[in-house]
Amino acid sequence: MDRIFSGVQPTGNLHIGNYLGAIQNFVKIQKRENISKAYYCVVDLHAITVWQNPLQLKKETLETAASFIAAGIDPKKSIIFNQSRVSSHAELAWILNCVCRIGWLNRMTQFKEKAGKNKEKASVGLYAYPVLMASDILSYKSNLVPVGDDQKQHLELARDIANKFNHDYEVNFFPEIEPLIFGSATRVMSLRNGKNKMSKSDESEFSRINLLDDKDTIKNKIKKAKTDSETIMGLEAIDSSGEFNSNISIQRPEAVNLLNIFCGVENLSKKEAVKTFSGKNFSDLKDALTDSLISKITPIGMEIKKMISDKKYLESILLEGAEIAEEDSKKNLLEIKNIIGFN
Ligand code: TYM
Repeated sequence: MDRIFSGVQPTGNLHIGNYLGAIQNFVKIQKRENISKAYYCVVDLHAITVWQNPLQLKKETLETAASFIAAGIDPKKSIIFNQSRVSSHAELAWILNCVCRIGWLNRMTQFKEKAGKNKEKASVGLYAYPVLMASDILSYKSNLVPVGDDQKQHLELARDIANKFNHDYEVNFFPEIEPLIFGSATRVMSLRNGKNKMSKSDESEFSRINLLDDKDTIKNKIKKAKTDSETIMGLEAIDSSGEFNSNISIQRPEAVNLLNIFCGVENLSKKEAVKTFSGKNFSDLKDALTDSLISKITPIGMEIKKMISDKKYLESILLEGAEIAEEDSKKNLLEIKNIIGFN
């Protein structure tokens, strides 16, 4: 039986990158058989690796939980909770810090991007961030982890940590971690620059569509999205695996991005989307994309807004989830301590 774990940071508005790359897939996985448990975690311990205003953090933790439920994660089927309520995450992270090698962390590209030029001033937490991710997953001995493409390197590191633990202590305790990266929009790019990832931290609001954006905002943002001067490409842009070939992705990143988003929202293959728009102008694609985002994303946003006003309900979901997560992870942590030789 499979055990699922994934996490989302409560740092600012969730956007369609988070939704298409990850949260939509959490919902799809719910229908799979063969799943013993699924944990969806609001990772507030990860959030404080960079400064967070306490009141804002509280608010956004609830908002992220609301987004999970509004997107279709059923709290009766999945365990929704926030990380700081379950002590095993931080405790196991320390143990795994002693398993992970500095050289492995030095290779993490996301740390380099986030710390930028001022590495000396970055928090130790930001550096050890991926070890806490490994701890999140392994606290529940989860094997399947649905994420967007940007988390692939972190999950490879988590797998290496699990394997080294098993090897060093001569046990077969942790399962092999498998990233689940699927769908048409595993890496949604900025609407202002198709070479940059769509991100909560981008200064420009026009770079992303947030789940809470209303119809007019969506329309306006798509209207202003960067394009190029050609018409939409033909089927020659698709390779044998059904993806955009690397040449077209480098030469026309904005066109590829808008088509990928359209496919993600409409659940279409890239071939189908290209067939529909080949030779047409960007305005045709933008009109269709606007309609599609308005019909699929704004209902989720409205549901989030409704849910946020019921703080008691959201609190109760997080508390109940944390109780189950605490119990499940405690059992594993006891076994881990025993393996290590702690009394
Ligand atoms: P976070 O909060 O940055 O993003 C949450 C999820 O959204 C995906 N994502 C994207 N997918 C496609 N295109 C984009 N532009 C885009 N931006 C974000 C991310 O891949 C992610 O799946 N470190 C994680 C949270 C985490 C976690 C974990 C994930 C903590 N512990 C354990 C899995 C397992 C993060 O920062 O996600």
